[in-house]
Amino acid sequence: MPTTEPAPDRSILGKNDDGRRFLTRGLGELVPPAPREEQVSFLVTKEHRRFAEFADTVRRHRHVGLCWGPPGVGKTLSARHYAGTDHWARWQHTLTSGTDPGAVPERVLQARTAFWTPTVNASTREVDRALPRACQEISYAVDYHQYGKVDPFVHPASAGSALTELLIIDEADRLRTVGLEQVRDYYDRHRLGVILIGMPGIEKRLARYPQLYSRIGFAHEYRSLGPDELTAVLTRRWQSDKHPDEDDLAQAAAITTVARGTGGNSRLVDRLLTQIERIRQINHLPTVTPEVVEAAREALLFGH
Ligand SMILES: Nc1ncnc2c1ncn2[C@@H]1O[C@H](COP(=O)(O)OP(=O)(O)O)[C@@H](O)[C@H]1O
Ligand SMILES: [Mg+2]
Repeated sequence: MPTTEPAPDRSILGKNDDGRRFLTRGLGELVPPAPREEQVSFLVTKEHRRFAEFADTVRRHRHVGLCWGPPGVGKTLSARHYAGTDHWARWQHTLTSGTDPGAVPERVLQARTAFWTPTVNASTREVDRALPRACQEISYAVDYHQYGKVDPFVHPASAGSALTELLIIDEADRLRTVGLEQVRDYYDRHRLGVILIGMPGIEKRLARYPQLYSRIGFAHEYRSLGPDELTAVLTRRWQSDKHPDEDDLAQAAAITTVARGTGGNSRLVDRLLTQIERIRQINHLPTVTPEVVEAAREALLFGH
């Protein structure tokens, strides 16, 4: 865990220095934000299983894979879950804050997958740095697991990407032509698979760059939840905090209303459920009825 007061011998403040100069020197964020706790409990949906199978294949064959789907269907969450990114971020945060990080998370060792999201306007220089860094971090963790320490001269694999098997690039739409070219170049120089995740249309855009396009071995469309699965997901969520007076028929009707209102888009479902819970609590309602769902929908911006 991060300590709020650093040990005095680690401070870089001078005498009578309250640190305000760090605000004015244009350094940006000095310390990256602490890794988030997992906010939603991840559900292993059929789409996630399809994604994992796709990622396994790209990784095994060391190909380039392209995955696309509309916003909010769960692409980012699936990829992070596959790579164990949240576990890894917490582990690395402990490591760099100077305390004993404990064992390297199991999922990270299994997946050996780096996850990287370019910033909105990523410059050529940033991309050049970020690609090797993302991969090196995973290689480091793998070697750390084996040796308990990493000396880049003794364990040269961990200084590079050699132990990383897959690199997932989320929001790949943000990469400009030169960025895509950098990714291709990085891929050509290493022995790892690469997955580009983007919005629908990215597959057509990439077709204009034959250099990269010709290397794409697998294409994968990430779809929204089907009606059956959506019903199962909602039933499970509502069963878990079921009120004794709950009316099953009204609940089933409410589930149908949610399914219709969101088209199976996970992000919309999530926002709608938050509103439903809020309306239910304000009005002390034991059961979710279609009317509650309608009221919740009106509080959101979609579905009008
Ligand atoms: N498998 C899942 N389990 C639980 N919640 C999910 C799942 N997939 C998506 N969600 C919900 O949908 C939201 C959007 O998912 P996200 O991965 O960010 O979509 P995308 O990257 O496709 O735009 C998440 O914040 C989460 O609330
Ligand atoms: Mg996303």
